[in-house]
Amino acid sequence: VKGQVRGLSTSVGNVKRVGVIGSGQMGLGIAYVAANVTGLPVVLMDVSQAQTDKGMVFMDKLLQKDVAKNKITAEHAKITRELVSTTNSLSGLSDVDFVIEAASENMDIKSAIFRDLDNICKPSSILATNTSSISITKIAAATKRAEQVIGMHFMNPVPVMKLVEIIPGLATSEQVLAETRNLAHAMGKTTTVVQDIPGFVANRLLMPYINEAVMLLECGAASAEDIDITMKLGTNMPMGPLTLADFIGLDTCLAIMKVLHENTGDSKYRPSVLLQKLSSNTSFPSARDLDVVLEE
Ligand code: CAA
Repeated sequence: VKGQVRGLSTSVGNVKRVGVIGSGQMGLGIAYVAANVTGLPVVLMDVSQAQTDKGMVFMDKLLQKDVAKNKITAEHAKITRELVSTTNSLSGLSDVDFVIEAASENMDIKSAIFRDLDNICKPSSILATNTSSISITKIAAATKRAEQVIGMHFMNPVPVMKLVEIIPGLATSEQVLAETRNLAHAMGKTTTVVQDIPGFVANRLLMPYINEAVMLLECGAASAEDIDITMKLGTNMPMGPLTLADFIGLDTCLAIMKVLHENTGDSKYRPSVLLQKLSSNTSFPSARDLDVVLEE
């Protein structure tokens, strides 16, 4: 799909226009790929203009970097930029065919968004969530179109990571699953289809690994640096687990561990005490600072 005739009306299946909710790291990355790779018009929504403006500044940086690296032409970048518009209200998504929600990882916030989207969007629109661990079936229950609600879990950084986990809820239709996979492929991604279980597959594996690294530090097994070096040089991970925890965000790691723990009832998923302490202490924003906490 890359290199489609830009600027002419184009579609991926029935999708002619995409809406993205949230202009943070994930939402912006999704909007960028949808416009830049797929060539579809994108409406980026966030609650304030300050947020959408910040997102667009980052979009410009990504485009400039791609032009500087000769990945795209300046003309391609200009067209991509023109394909993205912003709104500060969900009602600005009334004419999109496919919504990808990437708001905060909080059930109440997502339920409220999906309830409103159900009223605002066209009856045919598909509503996808980029949740990293919350049940798709529960989110879908906020709408009267559960068959058109689906999970589309992108990885961070979205422009770089090739995977999108696709998670049908209990009621999601086969056609919606097919259209969602089709759109993800048009965005240049490889997809897996995963059942609606806590953490899906990526975070079911990744978060206990990160949590275990924090627990190792907590019990003084090794320094933060040595734990990261072990996995970087010993198993060829691009980042050590503690650096990766910072990259993802400690609050996000904790939120996902809590979902795993609460929804399975299995004590093997209990969040590390140190992770909980750090996530609530903004003066220690980094897992690599954990040594400092331990020395207190
Ligand atoms: N946004 C967009 N692009 C980014 C970026 C960002 N935040 N950070 C890096 N990049 C791009 C760079 O621009 C560069 O692109 P080019 O190939 O066009 O030059 C490319 O990524 C490689 O970057 P660098 O050479 O600067 O650095 P690197 O080789 O160390 O790679 C990395 C950086 C891709 C982030 C790599 O360290 C990595 O893969 N880390 C692991 C990431 C990971 O595991 N992500 C999954 C997190 S879990 C998740 O997302 C799920 C969840 O629900 C929590």
